[in-house]
Amino acid sequence: MKLQELLRQTERRLAAARLHYGHGTDNPRDEAAYLVLRGLGLAFECDLEIEITKLQSNRVERLLRKRLHDRIPVAYLLNEAWLGGLPFYVDRRVIVPRSHLAELLQLRLRPWLRRPPRRILDLCTGSGCLAVLAAKAFPGAAVDATDVSAAALAVAAINVKKFKLMQRIRLVRSELFSALQNRRYDLIVSNPPYVTTASLRRLPPEYRYSSFSRPPERPSFLERGPRGPEGNDEHALARGERQAGIRSSMLGCAAGRSNLGKQASRHGDVVEVSKNVL
Ligand SMILES: C[S@@+](CC[C@H](N)C(=O)[O-])C[C@H]1O[C@@H](n2cnc3c(N)ncnc32)[C@H](O)[C@@H]1O
Repeated sequence: MKLQELLRQTERRLAAARLHYGHGTDNPRDEAAYLVLRGLGLAFECDLEIEITKLQSNRVERLLRKRLHDRIPVAYLLNEAWLGGLPFYVDRRVIVPRSHLAELLQLRLRPWLRRPPRRILDLCTGSGCLAVLAAKAFPGAAVDATDVSAAALAVAAINVKKFKLMQRIRLVRSELFSALQNRRYDLIVSNPPYVTTASLRRLPPEYRYSSFSRPPERPSFLERGPRGPEGNDEHALARGERQAGIRSSMLGCAAGRSNLGKQASRHGDVVEVSKNVL
């Protein structure tokens, strides 16, 4: 069988299964390309006329079954998620990277930043994807990347090493700003948790696969905020920033609903970027 035919077959089976997307692709055709090509270690642009061996089709079959029956996102099956044109290592200790901040970092955060930042914080770093993209966007900057989860930081360490950024990205375990007292940053980026435990239970199985998605032992800061379970995380971040005496420009990104718009903080701008404005 040719690669082209394997792609078509896979697409048909994915489409028939009525899966949920949103972990790197949003339709069966792209999902088939992701699963088949990357599952076989091929580039996204490759010759579709090549013949597939039995060994290769068996591998695709095994991956496809897990995707169809266990509803595991392809990124976790392959331990690979693409963001900003880069392949990040992922496993269930982190969410699959998909932040809109990636595109903004690729634009070097214009028009918000006029000068390249020298000290950057990626708060709630997860896989470290935004820290890596920030370091690449601003080659002169030192980046702190923090997360409350030691497991997530272990994944971030894999990515920092993968992109050879050990000299420029420092990983710090910290509940919000607590381990960063009085540090100064020119820029803070953050894609904080934005789904409450209650809403998580209503999401499709694909979104409940990562261990980060399991209900926390205690409510996340999102749920502890004064605005209640659907309260918005940028307010919590701005409050934490003030409490820790941190000065910065700050860019938060929320995928959910929020009416924050653009809000002045004490020392810089807190900019909320929701998917509606991108
Ligand atoms: C939505 S994920 C974002 C990960 C990554 N920045 C990205 O865009 O893919 C949020 C991360 O915040 C971390 N987190 C949750 N509560 C936190 C807290 N109170 N302080 C620091 N990190 C926290 C979680 O462990 C998780 O890795």
